[in-house]
Amino acid sequence: MADIFERLLKNYGPLGQYRERAHGYFAFPKLEGDISSRMKFRGKDVIVWSLNNYLGLANHPEVRKADADGAQQYGLAYPMGARMMSGNSNLHEQLEAELAAFEQKEDAALLNYGYQGMVSIIDVLCSRHDVIVYDAESHACIIDGLRLHPGHRYVFKHNDVEDCEKQLERATALIEKQGAGGILVITEGVFGMAGDQGKLKEIAALKDKYQFRLLVDDAHGFGTLGKTGAGAGEEQGVQHKIDLYFSTFAKSMASIGAFVAGDRKIIDYIRYNIRSQIFAKSLPMPLVIGNLKRLELLRNHPEYKEKLWSNARKLQEGLKSRGFDIGTTDSVVTPVYMKGDVPEATAMVMDFGRKLWHFRFNCSLPGNTERPHYLQAYPFYCSY
Ligand SMILES: Cc1ncc(COP(=O)(O)O)c(C=O)c1O
Repeated sequence: MADIFERLLKNYGPLGQYRERAHGYFAFPKLEGDISSRMKFRGKDVIVWSLNNYLGLANHPEVRKADADGAQQYGLAYPMGARMMSGNSNLHEQLEAELAAFEQKEDAALLNYGYQGMVSIIDVLCSRHDVIVYDAESHACIIDGLRLHPGHRYVFKHNDVEDCEKQLERATALIEKQGAGGILVITEGVFGMAGDQGKLKEIAALKDKYQFRLLVDDAHGFGTLGKTGAGAGEEQGVQHKIDLYFSTFAKSMASIGAFVAGDRKIIDYIRYNIRSQIFAKSLPMPLVIGNLKRLELLRNHPEYKEKLWSNARKLQEGLKSRGFDIGTTDSVVTPVYMKGDVPEATAMVMDFGRKLWHFRFNCSLPGNTERPHYLQAYPFYCSY
């Protein structure tokens, strides 16, 4: 019989194999100082490119005060227990109502984390006859949610609407054959690696021809896209066609938590059935209070988003004019594509690390040779 641990230690995985050089450097680094575009790394001043603090809220004085006041008043424990049991409060419900109104939806449900929340949303929505059609470059939380799905799943080539339609045709045929089930399409508002927006408008238009529900993970679009900052759906004029809008608080809100918004009855169904919330303690009050303050600032200060975009445009135009390949981003996420393999990319990041911390380093996993390695920058506004 094999020893599981022995097998694991023979192969630390695609990045783990570089851990001796990577650890404390581009993996598990320790950045010190206030969250900002300039921080300290190993005692040196460095420029930071890789935070998702898009609107600079992490260190906004009003946010810091709300976080501190929340902790002072309630501590981290309150309210104890899961929402459904003993962990609910008026402020949790207020945050849900404000998020729903901001996203032009009837209702919203809070989630403790984006990753966990998305895994569990997929689980709660789909049963074994349902078919999930999803983008090939979906975030790990979507991929891992699919692992819980007992039914079929059809992947379409990244942002390829024609292929999406093909998969919808297959899914429709399968459901007709089964005589049961429905279709859930899952994509993202902004793909966090390459920075391209999901083709929400085109995918939503397929609703005229096929019957499906659309779930969008807009982690990187929330607060950065759309006239009011409501995200990629608003930007593309199809917010009303997104059946379930999902985002995390970990990016523009510079916090912890997430939410899903949609029609009241469906959100209520989710609320009463989603395992990641029913079997977990609710968000602590300081986070709820801090997130209310962040949402208020995000809604009332369009200039934060404008500044973010002006930084992003400058960065993207500057990189392009100097011959860098930044791919097809149409968001503030700015990848810089480099040619080479994992060892070259590792060496390059080690070199960069001396001056700039920290470009994010994404590498394709073994077997995925189509995707080049790239470095990625997140311009953000941090002038406090
Ligand atoms: C597209 C996307 N979805 C979900 C998540 C997970 O969010 P959280 O950090 O709240 O778990 C992320 C964060 O990396 C993300 O980029």
